Amino acid sequence: MKESYITTAIPYVNGNPHLGHAMDYLLADTLRRYMMSQGKTVRLQVGTDEHGNKIFKKAAELGISTQDFVDQNSQHFQDFIHSLGVEYTDFVRTTDADHMRRCQEIWRRLSDHIYKNSYEGWYCEGCESFVTDKEHDENSGICPDHKKPYVKLSEENYYLRISDFKDQIRTAIESDEFKITPSFRKKEFLNLLKDMPDVSISRPKDQVSWGIPVPDDDSQVMYVWIDALSNYITVLGYPDRDISDFWPADVQIVGKDILRFHAGIWPAMLLGLGLPLPHNLVAHGFITVNGEKMSKSIGNVIAPEEILAKHGLTPFRYYFLRHASPVDDADFTWDKYEASYNELANDLGNLVQRLATLCKKNGITHVYAKRDAYHTGKFDQRMQNFEFNVAFDLVWSDIMELNKRIDSEKPWAVAKEDLAKAQVILSNLVDDLLYANTYLKIFLPDAAAQIESIFTADQIEPPATPMFPKH
Ligand code: MSP
Repeated sequence: MKESYITTAIPYVNGNPHLGHAMDYLLADTLRRYMMSQGKTVRLQVGTDEHGNKIFKKAAELGISTQDFVDQNSQHFQDFIHSLGVEYTDFVRTTDADHMRRCQEIWRRLSDHIYKNSYEGWYCEGCESFVTDKEHDENSGICPDHKKPYVKLSEENYYLRISDFKDQIRTAIESDEFKITPSFRKKEFLNLLKDMPDVSISRPKDQVSWGIPVPDDDSQVMYVWIDALSNYITVLGYPDRDISDFWPADVQIVGKDILRFHAGIWPAMLLGLGLPLPHNLVAHGFITVNGEKMSKSIGNVIAPEEILAKHGLTPFRYYFLRHASPVDDADFTWDKYEASYNELANDLGNLVQRLATLCKKNGITHVYAKRDAYHTGKFDQRMQNFEFNVAFDLVWSDIMELNKRIDSEKPWAVAKEDLAKAQVILSNLVDDLLYANTYLKIFLPDAAAQIESIFTADQIEPPATPMFPKH
């Protein structure tokens, strides 16, 4: 039986993990936990993109070997992913021997759609990509993402004939067989696809040495995107193994800046290999800081480690999963973060503390969940539309409802008159909290595990320190 498969973009290892990368991982992890809650077996790939000039140059600047540099940085990413509480099944590195060999085999299998040509055009070293003359002019000759001037390059390259597949790609996107979310990005991409030229998929070796050699041509190295995109299937063992138990991917998660590679070049490669297209491609927005794009030159980069160090993991996940839209740009400020922390402490932390204290006082022991129903239709619908923040709001409204019920049902006052009645009220509250907790688990696994252990213990005890203490 086919298993579910979710993929994430593999970051370049020339810099440190940042908030943008965190977004890829948190969304993928949330989706994975959701699918698992539905009884599915889910494979989740993560990894690092380790070839290309940017990386080669950075290692040289630091005076260490490129291999040592990528080894160290790939490890940083691996540690970072763990620090976010993200559980994955596969970690792929594009410098893995297996990946490199499989990538060359993929190239061979695409050879009917590959031709050699000379090309002159504008190139951004930051994007590792040529841009059209139109784009060059619109941006006044400077890449808006990297703030670097485009350089004119002229060279002999291999090309992938995207035109062989354009119609098929368009039809698949239009019919949602290959569904792009959000729909405004789908529209944007369909416009772009009209003028999409064949893409250069190699660079001369004397220009780029740190890359996978083109099979049977020593003078050329594979373009970093062909190498990187292949990771989604090389990690499954393609073409050595039959990957139909996993491929096509259910969901591929990427940032909006790299949608075009995943919606254009990647499908062309898949069709050229005779493989099916993924079911969903989800493009998330960018994380900004104080409303501005994070950038080293502005000096407004906030390292995720700094945020994690402030209040730990649960408040981090809470902020980025509830207060950041998965598809629009989302802003981070310390003020908003503190407000979000206080909300978490007041709504959830207090609820747990109050309810556990009342249970202890009134002799409530183990409570058995009375429901076996799991998700409501609304929640599923939001999750399936990748509106994770809205789905999370639904869970939160249940938590708020429980707070209101404690206030209005006043079990402490009832207990003075009728202990048995107070016990029924408290049991129901605990039961409903445990029910909401089955959803909460998808977003905040650590908090949910703590809540479960408190309220399913033989003796309910409030946590010695509140879950989200006031600082
Ligand atoms: N190596 C390529 C991806 C290859 S996938 C086959 C790459 N790497 S990256 O390090 O630049 O970006 C990795 C991911 O982080 C991408 O999904 C990208 O969109 C995302 N982000 C990078 N900066 C971001 C923000 N400021 N905010 C949100 N996500 C952003 O592209």
